[in-house]
Amino acid sequence: MDLFDNREALEHARRRAESIPLDEIDVSNANLFVNDMQGPYFERLRREAPVHFCKESHHGPYWSLTRFHEIKQVDADHERFSSDTNITLSDQYDEFVMPMFIAMDPPKHDAQRKAVTGAVAPATLAKLEHTIRERAGRILDSLPIGETFNWVDRVSIELTTQMLATILDFPFEERRKLTHWSDVFSGGTISGAVRSREHREQELLECLERFTALWHQKAEEPPGEGLISMLVHGDSTKDMITRPMEYLGNVMLLVVGGNDTTRNSISGGVLALNRYPSEYKKLRENPALIPNMVAEIIRWQTPLAHMRRTAREDIEIQGQRIRKGDKVAMWYISGNRDETVFAEPERLIIDRPNARAHVSFGYGIHRCMGNRLAEMQLRVVWEEILPRFRWVEVVGEPVRIRSNVIHGYQQLPVRLHAH
Ligand code: HEM
Repeated sequence: MDLFDNREALEHARRRAESIPLDEIDVSNANLFVNDMQGPYFERLRREAPVHFCKESHHGPYWSLTRFHEIKQVDADHERFSSDTNITLSDQYDEFVMPMFIAMDPPKHDAQRKAVTGAVAPATLAKLEHTIRERAGRILDSLPIGETFNWVDRVSIELTTQMLATILDFPFEERRKLTHWSDVFSGGTISGAVRSREHREQELLECLERFTALWHQKAEEPPGEGLISMLVHGDSTKDMITRPMEYLGNVMLLVVGGNDTTRNSISGGVLALNRYPSEYKKLRENPALIPNMVAEIIRWQTPLAHMRRTAREDIEIQGQRIRKGDKVAMWYISGNRDETVFAEPERLIIDRPNARAHVSFGYGIHRCMGNRLAEMQLRVVWEEILPRFRWVEVVGEPVRIRSNVIHGYQQLPVRLHAH
């Protein structure tokens, strides 16, 4: 059997997606994503109901935007579509309030984003690239040739965690704490990292304690390249420690924002190149394609399936009346498969001319602040993989994450082949 031959299951999903009444379609159902069966449902919505209302779901009633243009239109319209407090379909009622600018509207959003943006400025990234490359090389050199192992754990998680530790200048030996806190922050439901709300709070307070100690340590040292040092010594941020939850919120946003997303792009790239071997061949013959391939992998994978907004007033889009207070999901995962924008959208095409036009990083004032960092990390990883291994072979079906937000993998069994 062809390893990636899920045609029969997909055909079944397609028949169901086409036959079910439109108003019964609920694309927020996480079961679709864990089985990778969401595609046919989005395809139908793009064709027949690009602004679609689902009146009953696990998350209550919500609207879905599934086409490229409407997604960008709403993402750009922060005045009428708010990010305040909740940015995914599932409402989070959290007593442990940690303000993060991704879930704020202007003017607060703009001021806070500006304060940390230097940490991912091109000049900072250029300084960090060498260390990131060296550490990536070390991980890749430690991998066994010819044996089956889980790429997610040994490579994607480890690489992402090391890169985060480098950027934050967090103690390298304690780096897995960053992965842990990111899992805790995300609710721990996927990873099982937390047992209860109290447990989550306790873990996050420990995290605050660790980062507070780090702040004081960096304050004693001359200005360095890591993010914490930048906050400590930056003119507009040097008082942030007097507002501990804001400090923690900003740090955690970078940890969470850069964790699952980059991790799943590293795994997704390996999977996609195996699914389309002619593209792997193209890559081997022309490594100069890596930068464009990175954009295409991020489009193909779409690590964050959706972001949500809340309508501030009644608004009509494509003849549909969205009411004040309604939840609106922008399905980036569908916008990136919009056949009117991307030819053969299901395929990975590493020299796709408009790969960079994808909406995986969002659009408008909240557009991913770490996008250049993510691209640099992925470029470095592939530049280091290519000379080491002829083929990173996927040898079994991936185990996917059950989530309608984080689109990614728990397991990806691979075997490495030497040149
Ligand atoms: C492939 C990797 C990544 C993807 C696909 C991704 C995706 C996204 C998306 C979809 C948003 C929300 C955009 C919107 O609402 O319009 C976002 C925001 C954000 N991301 Fe990323 N991200 C990635 C990597 C990173 C990295 C490495 C960092 C930093 C270390 C980061 C930090 C942030 C921050 C701070 C925000 C909030 C921006 C704001 O609200 O102004 N991301 N990202």
